[in-house]
Order: sequence, then C-alpha cells, then structure tokens
Amino acid sequence: MNAHSVTASAPGKLMLLGEHAVVYGRPCIVTAVDQRMRATVERIDNPSFILHAPDVGLEEYHLALADITNAEIPKGARFLVEALQQFRVAHPFDGGIRVRTSSDFSSHFGFGSSSASTIAFLRAIDACIGTHLDLRTLFELAFAVVLAVQKTGSGFDVAAATWGGTLHYARGGEIATALPNHSFSLVVGYTGVKVETAPVVHRIREESLRDGGRIERLYDAMATVTAKGVTAFSHADWPAFGVLMDEQQALLRDLGVSSDVLERCILAAKQAGALGAKLSGTGIGDCMIALGTPETVPAIMDAITAAGGIILPVRVQAPAVRLE
Ligand code: PMV
Repeated sequence: MNAHSVTASAPGKLMLLGEHAVVYGRPCIVTAVDQRMRATVERIDNPSFILHAPDVGLEEYHLALADITNAEIPKGARFLVEALQQFRVAHPFDGGIRVRTSSDFSSHFGFGSSSASTIAFLRAIDACIGTHLDLRTLFELAFAVVLAVQKTGSGFDVAAATWGGTLHYARGGEIATALPNHSFSLVVGYTGVKVETAPVVHRIREESLRDGGRIERLYDAMATVTAKGVTAFSHADWPAFGVLMDEQQALLRDLGVSSDVLERCILAAKQAGALGAKLSGTGIGDCMIALGTPETVPAIMDAITAAGGIILPVRVQAPAVRLE
C-alpha cells in the first residue's frame, strides 16, 4: 500500500465584521491568519484510525473503523473522526489512516483550530487517496463535518481555512467572494478568557424567540455595516472600515456579548489611535481586534497590554489550505 505521508496546513481566522448575524444568513467579512493547523496523513493497511494530536492531549488514539459509529470518541478527535467517516462514505477506500496534527496556536485563542484542522486533514486525505477534490467540495465536506459535531455555526471559519485571504462570506458558502489582497494593520488582544461558541449562540437564539424582533433588527443593522465594509475594504479605505468596526461593536454590545475586559481593551486601543476596535467572534472573552496604521500599532499594542489583554502576533490575509 501507498506508504508515503502527506502534510497539509490550513490557516486560522479572525472575524472582521458580521459575527452572530452570519449564523442567521447575513453576510460577514473574515480574514485568514497565519497561525496554521497541520495534518500529516498516511494510509495504513489496518482498517483503523490512529491519531497523534499532542496539542489536544491525544497520543496514539486508536479506533477500529468497524467501531466508528458506536464508539465514544474523545473531544479532541471528534472533528477528524467525523471527517474521515464522511470522506469514506463519499469516497470509499481500503485500509485505514494514521494522522498527526500540530498547531501554531493554542485552541484557546478562538482562531478556529477545529475547522482549520478539519480542512487540513481532508486536504491531506484527498492527496493521499488521489481523489483530487476541488476547494468548493472540500469546503462543503468540512462544513457538513463541523455542523455534525457542533450542531451550529455559519462555516465562516471553514471558509477562511479553505480559501484564505479575506472573504465576504454568507452561511454555507452561499457567498464566498475573495476581497482584494490589501495589507492592513490589525492588532489582536486575547482576553485570557476561553469561550465556547455554541452555548452563547444558543442563549441568544432563545432570547430572540421572545424579544419582539429586537435581535433580528440588530442582525439587519449588522448586515448593513458589513455591506458598507465590503466597499470600504475593497477601496482600502481604512478610516471608513474602522468606523464600521466601531459600529459593529456597538451592535454586539446591544446583543449582550461584550464584557468588561473586552470593553477595557477596546477603549484603550481607541484612545491609543486605533481607527476601529471590536471583539472578534463569539465575544464574552476570546479576542478583540484593533485596526491601526503601521505608525500607531506599537502604541495600540502597549495600550491593550496595559488594559489586561495579551497581544497575539498574527498576520492577516494568510494563504489558503495547501500541501506542504
Ligand atoms: O468565536 P469564533 O471566533 O469561533 O466566532 C463565532 C462567530 C459566530 O458568528 C458567533 C458563530 C459562527 O459560526 O459564525
């Protein structure tokens, strides 16, 4: 059997505009970041799935493929087991798979490690098996995997991992349009608080059932902000884009997903000259982002640090999933 191994990597992501609203069909803008997940895949004769994922505490996790639907799968293996299962249903092959994953970043930062590792894994299996799937097919497969495991989500993180760059995106890939590859100066501050997305999304959904349309109106306002953001981004009009980030932050605050530490870091960034600053993603904790200029970035970093944030060095507009 084919004993060579194949490594693929995929980027993490940061939401620039449109979080939460994107779960309910409104578009967002997401950028891929150069913090990558890697998966090295090898075919084995034994019909098993063997996983080495030291980043999530799994060494030599072993699952017989015959047991795949009934076994109790540990949390750190769920996305890859589901990905393998869905891939094998669509493209059956003999034998099994050994995979090793590694990460440039902690899964705590909210950079989308599960989605990035799912796409990297599928890309590597595709190369190993020789199925030659195109990126749209890989995206759809990975989005189905994420939905099966998480039960909720817009797939924006899968899209960023698949296509890289900065994307105008709507749920399920209904829109997935690359925005121009302009460089821009983004500072990322981690709050030190790890947040699970699904319970927050669930809580807001429950609230929206009895709020007389208030939350739907917030989502519509976010959609307007994102639409203006596409124009501002396309023209590299960073002052305008910064204003839109502030507007999205105000809407997210109304939605109830900001927090004291996020607000402190955002205010500090603005006072240090940021063109715009907001939480990125679910909120409550995770990361905030501030748009600066090459001149203002050092002061913005200092201000966020003084406010209790931890600066994460990331580069935006990272390349798509790729074989290494
Ligand atoms: O916390 P993150 O970075 O995974 O972002 C979640 C963004 C949401 O819009 C709240 C959920 C989603 O799947 O789009």
